Amino acid sequence: MSLKAEIEKRKTFGIISHPDAGKTTLTEKLLLFGGAIQVAGAVKSNKIKKSATSDFMEIERQRGISVATSVMAFEYRGKKINILDTPGHKDFAEDTYRTLTAVDSAIVVIDVAKGVEAQTEKLVGVCRTRNTPMIVFINKMDREGLDGFDLLDEVETKLGMKACPLTWPIGMGQRFKGVYNIYAGNIRLFSAHGKQTEDDTIEISDLSDPSLDTLLGEAAANELREEVDTITQVYPKFDQEAYERGELNPIFFGSAINNFGVKEMLDCFVDIAPQPLPRITEERSIEPEENKFSGFVFKIHANMDPKHRDRIAFMRICSGIFERNTNYFHVRNKKKMKFSNPTMFMASKKNIVEQAYPGDIVGLYDSGNFKIGDALTTGETLTFKGIPSFSPEQFRYINNADPMKSKQLNKGIDQLMDEGVAQVFTKLDSNRKIIGTVGALQFDVIQYRLEHEYGAKCTYEPVAMHKACWISCEDKAALSELKSRRRKNLAVDKDEKLVYLAESAWTLKMAEENHPEVKFYTSSEF
Ligand code: G4P
Repeated sequence: MSLKAEIEKRKTFGIISHPDAGKTTLTEKLLLFGGAIQVAGAVKSNKIKKSATSDFMEIERQRGISVATSVMAFEYRGKKINILDTPGHKDFAEDTYRTLTAVDSAIVVIDVAKGVEAQTEKLVGVCRTRNTPMIVFINKMDREGLDGFDLLDEVETKLGMKACPLTWPIGMGQRFKGVYNIYAGNIRLFSAHGKQTEDDTIEISDLSDPSLDTLLGEAAANELREEVDTITQVYPKFDQEAYERGELNPIFFGSAINNFGVKEMLDCFVDIAPQPLPRITEERSIEPEENKFSGFVFKIHANMDPKHRDRIAFMRICSGIFERNTNYFHVRNKKKMKFSNPTMFMASKKNIVEQAYPGDIVGLYDSGNFKIGDALTTGETLTFKGIPSFSPEQFRYINNADPMKSKQLNKGIDQLMDEGVAQVFTKLDSNRKIIGTVGALQFDVIQYRLEHEYGAKCTYEPVAMHKACWISCEDKAALSELKSRRRKNLAVDKDEKLVYLAESAWTLKMAEENHPEVKFYTSSEF
């Protein structure tokens, strides 16, 4: 098959949601449709169960599971579909942000009873800044929840989306009768046995057809007619280009656990979701069809076995064909590397691959050569954009608890930061290191892993900190003034970029006012 045909065959996407909305359940149903798994329950949730939020041994176990579910690939209607798993737990939000750099579209799962929740808002926000095309699946229609129109309102106001309902629910909870497929013009009747068949689908060419009253009962049929009438008046028609630009969001309703409404969405997804898209680098835009291979690392996963410190770097192929045992150029290290065991993950199975194409994700065994954001090419120097670090939300000084092991500690910190577990800032005035994380869990994970993988011990010390802001300043004099006046607030990140550590929102505001030539950013890419 030609490179072009391989590219056209692929759809690489991520499912995002607030924990418990049904992401794992939906993923599993999609894999069942694709034949990648045969029984329900085969996909282990990588979410950290509520009961385990303070138990980091459990997190370590969950980390092991999430290697297997990092990428789940399946074939459906002649397409190769790659689902990239995203951790739902908010303490691992940064992992999710980075994974979203490797997708071409996303499916957003919302719980009908809870509506739009905080984590969904955050993640959709990240996708919106990149104009990632998004489809919404409103889940758990077998339960009582918000009215369909109120949900569409929330989707528009809280998520800033332009809703375009492509299916519409007929009742909900006890009264849930099925969905009307606006996109395909048929009705699928709900039964909670979880095995929707073609017999449950009734073609409806015209909603005024009196057989609808017999099918649904007069009241429900009339309600559906009225609602669909409102939808056609109020909401835009589906427009492929607007969806691809991230300006229109198809909405589907269903119940993942009952495998209901999922096929409607999958069939539509296969029709409309974008194939692998170009990627932006500082040097130029990379087109997938280019013959020369290129890819970037968006996620690094440490081995669970502390005796083997190798890691798996997950690389998204951006252009050309990636081949096993072929020399490629590691841009940051300026050296050639080849891979004898590049791996692709399919649900719980993994296979060594000979070739991979744009949109595919390969796992590369790594002994410490990769950092997040690293590029591999056939020789060209490319710097992929859009993989920024964001300001952490929690900060602590990290101290060495065993002076004999400072080398191990520093190595451990460096490697864990390369993996993206957290961020480290080294203060200019004292050289002390501050660890910044999104959630408190990572502090325990770091301490545990430093001890078990690197033989180093650390302690933490509280530090009052509000934000870390990356700074830029064209004016050399203004920059040196900031450096001399605010030295105690300045630090460098792991790439030696200058960062302003603000104790409070007020000190940040004052710094901005007192140093107008200096720009402060809450993300490392500006
Ligand atoms: P997540 O990955 O987004 O965190 O959610 P997950 O799929 O694990 O689903 C969260 C809970 O919601 C699970 O119940 C799951 O069974 C349930 N669920 C998913 N889809 C539906 C649906 O369409 N209708 C209803 N009523 N429930 C649904 P749990 O009790 O937390 O876990 P479990 O013991 O069933 O695994």
